[in-house]
Amino acid sequence: MLRRLLRNRMVLPAVVVAGVGVAGALSFGVGAGAQGTPGSSTAPAVRRAGAVTAARTTALATKRETRARDACKSPSAPAEPANSGTPRSSVRRCRDGQVVAYGNSAILYQLPSQSPGQAPTPQYLAAGESLFEQNCSSCHGPAGAGSAAAPNLVGLGPATVMFWVTTGRMPATTPLTVQAPVKPPRLTDAQAAEIAAWINSLDPAAPYVPKVNLKGANLAEGASLFALNCAACHTITGAGDALAYGTYAPPLHKVTPTQIASAIRTGPTNMPLFTGNLSDNQVRDIVAYVSEKIQHPTNNGGFGLGGVGPVAEGFVALLVGVGLLVLICFWIGDRA
Ligand code: HEC
Ligand code: HEC
Repeated sequence: MLRRLLRNRMVLPAVVVAGVGVAGALSFGVGAGAQGTPGSSTAPAVRRAGAVTAARTTALATKRETRARDACKSPSAPAEPANSGTPRSSVRRCRDGQVVAYGNSAILYQLPSQSPGQAPTPQYLAAGESLFEQNCSSCHGPAGAGSAAAPNLVGLGPATVMFWVTTGRMPATTPLTVQAPVKPPRLTDAQAAEIAAWINSLDPAAPYVPKVNLKGANLAEGASLFALNCAACHTITGAGDALAYGTYAPPLHKVTPTQIASAIRTGPTNMPLFTGNLSDNQVRDIVAYVSEKIQHPTNNGGFGLGGVGPVAEGFVALLVGVGLLVLICFWIGDRA
């Protein structure tokens, strides 16, 4: 019986095709699993275009409770055990009664000024104010307090301002459709720093601008933290993905270490804020993983396929594999 079955010339190709079908389906399933669902558990409520109003400002105010203002008044207060990006860090540097830097050996958060470690001079702040008037006040109001068109910026901390300006999101182009897009920056980093320092002088607040020391980072730890905290939205390869209502998590291929750490510590729009649950050492590990592995992937043999991840790879494997098998079937059939 078995012998007769094996003698039938269509059985062998059929078994091979079925086997590949199962393998393909499996690899596709694994790929889809690794990719994760965008906007899963950690995703906060997605905001719609135009909803930049009071509600948003309040939400942000509660997001960033730690005021830089108070940290120098009680310099002997114990540091937070987690060292999670607030002025209660183990390192706290004060100048003229205000915090100019805080953090630890992994990340130092600095107040923008004419030179690191100094308090900004009145001239430096005046330069920031005039840049703000020329480029920002039409939407954010003359004192940065917000308008019907744009949110309040006072009390958000210099890292927020630096992030939005150096990634080219700001100044926004009107009308803003869904989410301020990343574009080539209109202002230089130095100009962004002046604006950030001036806004901060109106109501000093954390987070300051993070300078990440990548030396000593643990890449394996960074990889697993990335998979756990970031891949749901940005995908495991950092290629970015769509979220609800036309919003999206952008690709991570061009961001600088300072911008990555700033995103983690400021939570831009639909990205969650990770203060508290990620320590500065963990943020350093993630930043190192993104800037060393995601931005410079090593393809250990084979084709990179644009690095878009396992789903695309599964598709290519299916197409090429099934195509080849069909050809083999024809060939076997022809021989008989
Ligand atoms: C054409 C109007 C417009 C101009 C000009 C503009 N902004 Fe904005 N800005 C917006 C809008 C609208 C948002 C909200 C965007 C969003 O939520 O996606 C925003 C958001 C921001 C945010 C994020 C605030 C937050 O709550 O996280 C910062 C920081 C910011 N702008 C800074 C600036 C700076 C600095 C300038 C000048 C260099 C500037 N903007 C110029 C309209 C503008
Ligand atoms: C809930 C989804 C979500 C998660 C989780 C998430 N992000 Fe984001 N991320 C976003 C969104 C949305 C934006 C874009 C915000 C905007 O443009 O207003 C963004 C922006 C960024 C940017 C700025 C990119 C650019 O081109 O300017 C970086 C860097 C970033 N995220 C890194 C991370 C890292 C690292 C993690 C993990 C610790 C993470 N994100 C977790 C949704 C997410």
